[in-house]
Amino acid sequence: MKKNFLNLGKQPLANSFLASNSKRVKSKEFFYNLRVAFDTDTCLVSVANPVNPKFQYTDQYAHRASESLTMRNAFAKIARKLDKKFSPKIVMEIGSNDGVFIRNFDKKKIIAVEPCRNLAKLTKDKYKTYPNFWTKKLAKKIFQKSKNADIIFSANTISHIPNLKETFEAIEKSLSLNGVLVIEDPSLLSVIENNSYDQFYDEHVYVFSAIAISNIVKKTNLRLFNAEKIDTHGGSMRYYICKKKAKYKITNGLKKILNKEKKSKLNQLKTYLNFSKKVEESKNNLIKIFKKLKKENKKVISYGATYKSSTVFNYCNIGTKYIEYVTDTTLNKQGKFTPGKHIPIISPEKGMNNSVDYAFLGAWNFKKEILKKEREFIKRGGKFITHVPSAKIISS
Ligand code: TYD
Repeated sequence: MKKNFLNLGKQPLANSFLASNSKRVKSKEFFYNLRVAFDTDTCLVSVANPVNPKFQYTDQYAHRASESLTMRNAFAKIARKLDKKFSPKIVMEIGSNDGVFIRNFDKKKIIAVEPCRNLAKLTKDKYKTYPNFWTKKLAKKIFQKSKNADIIFSANTISHIPNLKETFEAIEKSLSLNGVLVIEDPSLLSVIENNSYDQFYDEHVYVFSAIAISNIVKKTNLRLFNAEKIDTHGGSMRYYICKKKAKYKITNGLKKILNKEKKSKLNQLKTYLNFSKKVEESKNNLIKIFKKLKKENKKVISYGATYKSSTVFNYCNIGTKYIEYVTDTTLNKQGKFTPGKHIPIISPEKGMNNSVDYAFLGAWNFKKEILKKEREFIKRGGKFITHVPSAKIISS
């Protein structure tokens, strides 16, 4: 049974950056109430009222996975690892974005699926790319022409698809006998440990635990046999899933992760009710920091126009009163306005100048990369603010 445990209030679509902050544009903005629920049967944590994906994954989709060096390196590393371990002949990626993973493979091996047409266009000349949503119908179409896939890879995508049953059924039909589905998504344990409630937004329909993934895939002809903790996106998990009859044995790594999740009581509703209380505390503390800096007349900006920061700003009601602008390296975010709170977005070259006193780490998951890059800012006394794992000014 689904039990709501968290209410993050009225939220816009996190990817819907506004082209202008005119009254007319703002009046058309779409909002929904973001509530998060725990399913007591499968232990699956999900957005209670998901938005129709057709409104989210359009030809305006802004996120480019290649924007970050951390992600480029991470995808190159996992590509090498999968190639070495499984020697796949056919590799399919669901949600290939701008090609950051597939570009590490020989093009003859690759099938890419990417419903955002602006992104699919980026890879279609070099790689076989289907500009479609992943469905049973599409799987049938693809594998009428191709042998089944030895690896199906999907990073930060399966957790975005409301219909998990269809998704996994289509995957099961597309895998070769000993084919492996490898998925990466933010880890629920990390969310609970870091109080990173901003992992919840319209696109993250699910935040998975190994417990939940195991329960869900079992409903089709699949099973989870391995899992690895990874650093990306502020704490993620990589799951290895195969057909029930495939040759792989359950690994010790998976057993340890499942035990840790049970010890952390990810299978109990009360864990989530406690989390919800901590989220509210985090909100109150973050607001206090912004109010104090405002009183002190400090110039405060935000670093990284992330989807995550959209949840934070809308939940905490932090707008242009506190944040002058947001900097972001993504060209097609620059010149736009953040969803819901309409904070202008500009390039870091323009924005990270000597007048900035404080920068909120919207892209806190790249903290290491950013602190390294912004050594000068820190050296001259600039400070970062974060809300993960608790709201504070980072002292360096
Ligand atoms: P991402 O981590 O994918 O976060 P989300 O999924 O919440 O949007 O996006 C990181 C964003 O931060 C992306 O728009 C690029 C931006 N960014 C910078 O502006 N500067 C940087 O140094 C880094 C690492 C990211």
